[in-house]
Order: sequence, then structure tokens, then C-alpha cells
Amino acid sequence: MQRTVPPAPATPSRVRPGLALALLAAGLAAADARSALGAGEPEPLWAYGYATPPGPADPAPPETVPPTSRTPRDGEPAESQTRLRHVPGSLAAFSELDIRDGGRVVDWFPGDHPPMGRVLERGPARLGEHSWGCAYCHLPTGKGRPENAPVVGQPVAYFMRQLADFRAGARTSADPRKPNTRLMAGLSRLMTDAEMREAAEYFGAMKWTPWTRVVETDRVPRTRIEGNLFRAVERERIEPIAGRIIEVPEDPEQSEGLRNPRSGFIAYVPKGSVRRGEFLVTTGGATIEGGKAVPGKTLACAACHGPDLMGLLDVPGIAGRSPSYLVRQLYDLQQGTRRGASAAPMLPVVARLTGDDLVDIAAYVTSRSAPVATQAP
Ligand code: HEC
Ligand code: HEC
Repeated sequence: MQRTVPPAPATPSRVRPGLALALLAAGLAAADARSALGAGEPEPLWAYGYATPPGPADPAPPETVPPTSRTPRDGEPAESQTRLRHVPGSLAAFSELDIRDGGRVVDWFPGDHPPMGRVLERGPARLGEHSWGCAYCHLPTGKGRPENAPVVGQPVAYFMRQLADFRAGARTSADPRKPNTRLMAGLSRLMTDAEMREAAEYFGAMKWTPWTRVVETDRVPRTRIEGNLFRAVERERIEPIAGRIIEVPEDPEQSEGLRNPRSGFIAYVPKGSVRRGEFLVTTGGATIEGGKAVPGKTLACAACHGPDLMGLLDVPGIAGRSPSYLVRQLYDLQQGTRRGASAAPMLPVVARLTGDDLVDIAAYVTSRSAPVATQAP
């Protein structure tokens, strides 16, 4: 696969544990710097899938988990909801009712992943017949969608810790409206420990592969937001990108209508963001001025996330993952709504980052497992 962005400067192929620990300690010491600049940054609304900030009339939805359903939607012809559909390359056939049924996740490509156990396909047993299979939102491949989370290939210990954090209320969204993060928290409380482990081991057994194509551009297609997901409403790119990242399905019908787990996403990112992000990610922003090393505003990510940013020990992989997801996590960490037991090493990383830095960092990190195309001027 072609990459038009130069590879990151050589990093040691194995980070010495001593070095990682020293950085960790330095990070913890610098944690006091938190709230210096970053905490006051305005919410990157695009990352949460909203066009306007939350108002006082927007209460957080409950963390209760509603049952899934196979009831046909009113206002849509019954025939179109029960007619069997196909996706390219699959012998399977499912109706819209099947595809929308979170309690029995459709599997277009059983050969693309290990066999799904009950919790993956049908959800926590405690919820009965109309539960939510993990693979419904995160997809059977675990690559996820911009409005949820890319969970594939993460260390089992990391995965388990996140579920424990959701359970304990230590992981909530900085945008209190975001309904699916609250649903996720609700699900974490319904899972047994064995179900949590089954899901962690299933997703952890697969490797991350490219899923989001990064395109640097000044202009994006006009979009409509549905269920916290942006959808292009036209092909032409006439709307200024205005410092945002706009992530849309490559093919809305395949992604949204059919939940085809082979149909990926495009991330439109501002021109120049990948290169600016590369500088922050690989150096932490440190420079040499007048022969003196000047510390940067953040820390080099590879020290903890691994030389290729694909994860190291129990630190998660970040390369190639949805930029909307990455920015939500960085912002949640900065705002203190993601504050699990192991979040501390990330605090000095995010403390001084501005909204523009988050965009640049995510553009680069996502581009690390997908080719970058630059739009002709
Ligand atoms: C309704 C959709 C939905 C379902 C069903 C769902 N999740 Fe999630 N999951 C989410 C969302 C949304 C997030 C967090 C995204 C955010 O806040 O930015 C998330 C995050 C996660 C994370 C954290 C990932 C990371 O990299 O830190 C884990 C782990 C996880 N889910 C596991 C599960 C398991 C196990 C199940 C099956 C019981 C499941 N999820 C079912 C929507 C869902
Ligand atoms: C000092 C070690 C350290 C450094 C340096 C570091 N991270 Fe992290 N990062 C972590 C740890 C540990 C976690 C897991 C936190 C948890 O368990 O909640 C994490 C989690 C994350 C997550 C959430 C992943 C997910 O799936 O939800 C993102 C995104 C992230 N880091 C991005 C970065 C970026 C970008 C950089 C560089 C600018 C960076 N990190 C530098 C240690 C580090």
C-alpha cells in the first residue's frame, strides 16, 4: 500500500522498559501541569458527532440499556424491511430487520474473524433475548465505527480495564449527550466477568488492519449528522473544512444501511495537519534553540504506545484508528471525564494540547496505517 507521508524517524525497534518507566515517572510528575492550558479548550463538537454545544436543556440520557427489537419501523414500507439484502463478496442474505437487530448480530463474512461467542453475537445474557451483541456496534471485525470505538487488537488487560472503568463511572463522555457511550457504560454493568474476558480475548486475538483513509483537503462535502455519524449528502467538496476532521463512510449504504464490515471510512483532515501531527507525535514538540533542548508541549507517543504506535504491553494501539474516536479520548482525558486508574500517564500528554493540536495528532496517528491522499488544489 502506498504511503505519501514519509515514515516516522527511526525509533528503536524495542523500547527498553527502563526508558518507558522513566517517561512514565516524568509524566506522572508533570501531571500537575494539567489544566494549564488545555482544560479550557472548547469541545471539538465534530468528534462527538454534534453541530452545536450542549445546552442546559440537554440532560444526559440514562445509562439504562433498552431492549433491542425486531419490530418493523412505522412509516417505512414493510416489504423493504423484510426483503433480503446482499453485499459484494458474501453469500449471506439478511433483511433490514435482521441487520438492525442488535440482539443477533448479522455476520456477512464469517471467514474474516474467529467464531463469535454468545456475548459477541447476542450480548450479555443477563439482558435476555433482546440484548446487545458487542459485534453490533464494534462490528464482528472489531474495527468499530467513528461514533463508537475500534476495539480490535487491543491488549486483553487494557480492554478489561476499560470495562472496569466504565462500570465504576470512571469513563464517561465529555459531551454528556452522547447516548452510546452511556449505553456502553450500562452494558459494562450487565456483563459478567467471564463475558468481559470472552469479548476481550475475541477482539484481542485479531490484528489491526487499515480501515480509515486519510485525505488532506481544504474543503469537505456537505454532511448531515445522524446518530452521531457524519454522512456526506453530495460528492462535491464545497464546504470549508474549518479546522475540523470530517469522517464519513466510504459508502453510506454499505456502512450504515447494510453494516458491511468490509466497507471503511474516509477522514478528511486539514491540509498540513499530518505533517504537523507527525512532529508532535514523534518528538513531543521538543526543539533545540540556541543549542539548548526546549521541552515540547506533549510527550512522544511511541515511548508508551510502541514504536509503530500499535500498542506495547498493556498500553493500547492507536495507529490507524478513527480520528474522531482518538480526539474524543484525548479530549475526555483532558477534561477529566476519562479518569480510570491507568489514565494518569496520559495527563501530561494532553494537558497543554489545543484543539488544533488534537486535530493534527489524530490526522497523523490515523494515517499511520492507511495511505494519505492529498487533494489537488
Ligand atoms: C450501542 C453500541 C455499543 C455496543 C452494543 C457495545 N459497545 Fe463498546 N463502546 C461503545 C461506545 C460508544 C464506546 C465508547 C466511545 C466513546 O466514548 O468515545 C465503546 C467503548 C468500548 C470499549 C473501550 C475501547 C477502548 O479502546 O478503550 C470497550 C473495551 C468496549 N466498548 C467493549 C464492549 C463489549 C465487550 C461489548 C459487548 C457487551 C460492547 N462494547 C458493546 C458502543 C457500544
Ligand atoms: C507515558 C506513557 C504514555 C505516553 C507518552 C502516551 N500515552 Fe497514550 N496512553 C497511555 C496509557 C497507559 C493509556 C491507557 C489509559 C487507560 O488505561 O485508560 C493511553 C491511552 C491513550 C489513548 C486512548 C486509546 C483508546 O483506545 O481509547 C489515546 C488516544 C492515546 N493514549 C494517545 C496518545 C498520543 C497521541 C500520545 C502522544 C502525543 C500518547 N498517547 C502518549 C500512555 C501514554
